[in-house]
Order: sequence, then C-alpha cells, then structure tokens
Amino acid sequence: MYVCHGPICAQKVRPVWQALHAAVHTMGVADQCELIVSGCQGRCEDGPNINVYPKLTKYAHVNPDTAQRIVREHIAAGAPVAELEFRAQE
Ligand code: FES
Repeated sequence: MYVCHGPICAQKVRPVWQALHAAVHTMGVADQCELIVSGCQGRCEDGPNINVYPKLTKYAHVNPDTAQRIVREHIAAGAPVAELEFRAQE
C-alpha cells in the first residue's frame, strides 16, 4: 500500500497513516500489507491518496475512517472499496 507523502498530501496524511498503521495491526493483516511512503502520485487535488497493489486500486480523499475501511474491506476481506476509488474528472 503506497501512501502519498508528496508535498500536498503530506499536509493531511499523518492521521491517515496512523489509522492505517493501527488498522493493519488491529485487524491482524500486518503480514499481508506493507505500508510504504510514496512521493507524489500526480493527483494532488484529490489527496490524501493511496495506491494498493498488486492489482492497482487508487483511493482518493482518504481520511482516518476510510483508511480503516480500506484495510478491513480491501486488505483483510479482499474486496476493493469501489465507492472510495479515485475517479478522474471528465
Ligand atoms: S502530493 Fe499526493 S498526489 Fe501529489
């Protein structure tokens, strides 16, 4: 899980990072999910942003509550959270 710490996202990412860290340990998935600090992911106006691999899923506007949900539903249960996925503006 690549968590953007680029200059724009970094202004809001600290509580998201803390929520992710707590969630992966509380939910017992720390061995399935590596939290990685990334640079800018190129969609700064939609931050904080997270990319989850191996099948790329991009999450945008992540907050501590949705961070926990991503860990619970995507990482622990294997079901990407469609409603939280990044959607490019048309
Ligand atoms: S700083 Fe996070 S996407 Fe650019």
